[in-house]
Amino acid sequence: MTSKEMQRDFLEKDTALMRDIAAQLGRPLRYHVATFGCQMNAHDSEKLKGILTVCGLEESGEDEADLIIYNTCTVRENADQRVYGRLGYLSGLKKKRPDMKIALCGCMMQEPHVVEKIKKSYPHVDLIFGTHNLYTFPELLYRTFTEDARIVELLDSSNESAEDMPSERNYAFKSGVNIMFGCNNFCTYCIVPYVRGRERSRTPEEIIAEVKTLVSKGVVEVMLLGQNVNSYGKTLEPQVSFAELLQQVADVEGLERVRFMTSHPKDLSDELIEVMKKNKNICRHLHLPVQSGSTSLLKKMNRKYTREKYLELVDKIRAAMPDISLTTDIIVGFPGETDQDFEDTLSLVELCGYDSVFTFEYSKRTGTPAATMPDQVPEAVVKERFARLLETVRRTGEKASGRFEGATMPVLVEEKNREEGLMTGRLEHNIVVHFPGTPDMIGTIVDVKLDSCKGFYYLGHRV
Ligand code: SAH
Ligand code: SF4
Ligand code: F3S
Repeated sequence: MTSKEMQRDFLEKDTALMRDIAAQLGRPLRYHVATFGCQMNAHDSEKLKGILTVCGLEESGEDEADLIIYNTCTVRENADQRVYGRLGYLSGLKKKRPDMKIALCGCMMQEPHVVEKIKKSYPHVDLIFGTHNLYTFPELLYRTFTEDARIVELLDSSNESAEDMPSERNYAFKSGVNIMFGCNNFCTYCIVPYVRGRERSRTPEEIIAEVKTLVSKGVVEVMLLGQNVNSYGKTLEPQVSFAELLQQVADVEGLERVRFMTSHPKDLSDELIEVMKKNKNICRHLHLPVQSGSTSLLKKMNRKYTREKYLELVDKIRAAMPDISLTTDIIVGFPGETDQDFEDTLSLVELCGYDSVFTFEYSKRTGTPAATMPDQVPEAVVKERFARLLETVRRTGEKASGRFEGATMPVLVEEKNREEGLMTGRLEHNIVVHFPGTPDMIGTIVDVKLDSCKGFYYLGHRV
């Protein structure tokens, strides 16, 4: 039996087991999956939920669940702290309901010092697994409900993935699709290559087949996911570029919108810009993380581009698609960041005209080269720079986002707004729009006049 067949076998065993337990309880078993990380982490959670749903469990809040899974992230220290904080709460919950099971998975679990700490200080955790053995979840689930001892299953790498497992999508009309796993870039601050392993690409055939299946089920928007989509296909035989893959995806009949993230500036090709420009269903939005506006800091970060190269790239993209939305990530307080480096970041933000910027205080990650670099920036300095950056980002972002005021544009309706009678959707530019509407519009694309820009979102009405 292959390992995949074995897991399918366990899926059947799980279903029977859960049915038995439910019969004893007189109610279906309930699960709660909490996602702490990025889109890829969320995509993994959809797989966990899919498997649990197939086994007959129902989704519930944390307090009522028989099985709680935390799908963790470790990209910054505060992601770790959130998990530890909530584990404290779960300890109290488990005292009241000793039969409940607690599982931890995701990127944090790929760090040996984390697993040691959990083993020592959080005895109420029943199951620990990592990013490389998600596909064995059916088996781990069975063992969790049939064995008494705590289960810890971790792998350093794997060629298997969970892509063909059942999935419970968060939205009926849009979906993420993994096109690659891992990362080979080793930016000096970043833990991702250590916890997600080496870069691996799925074949175009597999990806296109998945997209076609999604479209046949009513999905109109697909987001292609990878830590650096622009280096897609380098490990494939024959090699396929990301631009070629994107063209194939855009050609799928019935697919209204294609997005992708994340683009590393060092690998963004002219061919990709051409493909974006040519295809109406590829969204006019690029998330292009810059991290810093200072060439010397970019070098220390191992980003492999200079300030000038990045600005040239932005010019090239804007020349091809003048109305495109650009967004970015910036780290403040990387080791050795001088006042001048930081000023360079501020001036780059002014020059690029981003719609929005995700700003992060540098967070030291054990095991990365930057953690032991000299000249770590004092916290007070980081805080002061961070506040200044936020101010610049807010001012420039409002100006950029407001450029469509008065225009009528297609909006993909995503959900009901908290405010009665309002619906919320998105422009292909990824800008949020609220307008009066009804829930039957969810999943459709409607024309909305963008009456007024309120900072980062629009208020409008259907026309
Ligand atoms: N693969 C993507 C980024 C994934 S992590 C890329 O290369 O662009 C998302 C963002 O988290 C990064 O862009 C970076 O801005 C931020 N980040 C990663 N490690 C960090 C750290 N140690 N401290 C602060 N921010 C960090
Ligand atoms: Fe981290 Fe850099 Fe890889 Fe992005 S490209 S995941 S920042 S190492
Ligand atoms: Fe976090 Fe892992 Fe994503 S560390 S950002 S969940 S790849």
